[in-house]
Amino acid sequence: KTFLDKKTCGAQVNPCIRKNEAKVVNTVDIEEIGNQKAFCRCWRSEKFPYCDGSHNKHNETTGDNVGPLLVKKS
Ligand code: FES
Repeated sequence: KTFLDKKTCGAQVNPCIRKNEAKVVNTVDIEEIGNQKAFCRCWRSEKFPYCDGSHNKHNETTGDNVGPLLVKKS
């Protein structure tokens, strides 16, 4: 099995965030994120683009394995 399974990669990943827009783009000022921030990659967060932990429920119900992108100041 390859890293990217082509059979499961064709579906939409965004179920409901800002679906009236042609493309969901966020801009975050790096000076406003503090020392660490978790960014959502599961597209289920109610605080998108930030992670609110919704990936845990998504993973439990679907068997998926997604999680946030952690951005830290070093
Ligand atoms: Fe989406 Fe955490 S809520 S990655």
